[in-house]
Amino acid sequence: MSVEYGYLAYSPHIDPVFTISLPQTIKFGMGVSREAGYEAKRLGIKKALLVVGPRLSGSRLAEDIRSSLEAEGIGVSVLSKVKIEPEDEEILEAYKEIKGKDIDGFIALGGGSTIDTAKILNLLHTYPAPLEDYINRPIGRGLQPPGPLKPLIAIPTTAGTGSESTSVAILDIKRLRVKSGISNPYMRPTVALIDPLTTVTMPPMITASSGLDVLNHAIESLTSRPYTSKPSIKSPAERPVYSGATPLGDIFGEHAIIWVNKYLRRAYANPNDLEARYYMMLAASIAGIGFGHVGVHIPHAMAYPIAGMVRNYYPPDYEFGYPIAPHGISTAIPAGYALKHLAPYNIPKFSKAVELLTGESVYEAKEVAESLFEYYMGLLEDLGVPTCLRELGFGKEDLEALVDGTLKQQRLLAQSPKQVSKKDLEKIFSEALG
Ligand SMILES: [Fe+2]
Repeated sequence: MSVEYGYLAYSPHIDPVFTISLPQTIKFGMGVSREAGYEAKRLGIKKALLVVGPRLSGSRLAEDIRSSLEAEGIGVSVLSKVKIEPEDEEILEAYKEIKGKDIDGFIALGGGSTIDTAKILNLLHTYPAPLEDYINRPIGRGLQPPGPLKPLIAIPTTAGTGSESTSVAILDIKRLRVKSGISNPYMRPTVALIDPLTTVTMPPMITASSGLDVLNHAIESLTSRPYTSKPSIKSPAERPVYSGATPLGDIFGEHAIIWVNKYLRRAYANPNDLEARYYMMLAASIAGIGFGHVGVHIPHAMAYPIAGMVRNYYPPDYEFGYPIAPHGISTAIPAGYALKHLAPYNIPKFSKAVELLTGESVYEAKEVAESLFEYYMGLLEDLGVPTCLRELGFGKEDLEALVDGTLKQQRLLAQSPKQVSKKDLEKIFSEALG
């Protein structure tokens, strides 16, 4: 199914190595979340902090996880002060609650925001330091912790972020109204328990947003610049976490595209469609393994200022009393416009994506770009998601700040199949405003 895209290259001028680092253990299957207690005991955890998302706080699922931990003699304290799309200040508030407490392991139950919050709390609890020290450059100092963190068991309840297998946590920097990340190899969960049954209670708009995030992870990692285009390095320690596209990343990305195309609309229309839930969860997991080492590029870079600057959008199923551009929605809206612009710079990969999504074989740049754009617009409409940024409350007056916020995402821009300029971004954002 996968074709060879010409990765074979070996010269002193490039770095010919890519790395896939995963949680020590990934367990996948219906009901596997109930093995949290077994895994926590195996890791030697005696006093766990269970970090639970707001939607799941007090739910049957959270109680089941708690019982499975207590049944193994593990003490459990619960932290449910988690915000969807968390801000730095809110994470520090949550940290105050656990600072100095006797905790020797973390369990995260929820979507990407919850898992990311648990990753950051684990980092601060294990190696206390100002949060800015750990936030990626240029926004923070990008320092690495001195060693491994405490064990973290991630139990995702959305089929989306892939946060259970990545070494990144995303947060809002309130003062700058922009999103940034903390990215170092120690952030990766120790164990991921991936249970499709946890997703059946996910409401339609959360299903749509997280599923769109999977599609973006898959397409962006597939179309990233190849890892063999990266310059040589002096020491393995200099190698960035994100490698650029790899042959294995391509396999994960291509298969995830097939499954999202086949099952996302079904999971959205019928929450109890177990086959759709099963394959969406698998798609999210493999896309996560793919982009977790390959990286993502322009649509994700554009999503960060969109999510950071949203002022008056309150999507259904996200009624938390504050405006929000959910991560999947804020990546999928710019994706159609950005990918259309980028398609001519990697025709083999983009035409493969079009073929997997539509069955069409197109190889001419304009046709590839148009087909992909049409697909995105059609999918967003089917899922009841806005197709332009104006529908999220943005206008021309926001253009400059949106572009500047995107230009700050250097780590992601570096993965793009074409090095985008400020002018390119102004053009893409102008179109995306609608
Ligand atoms: Fe994402």
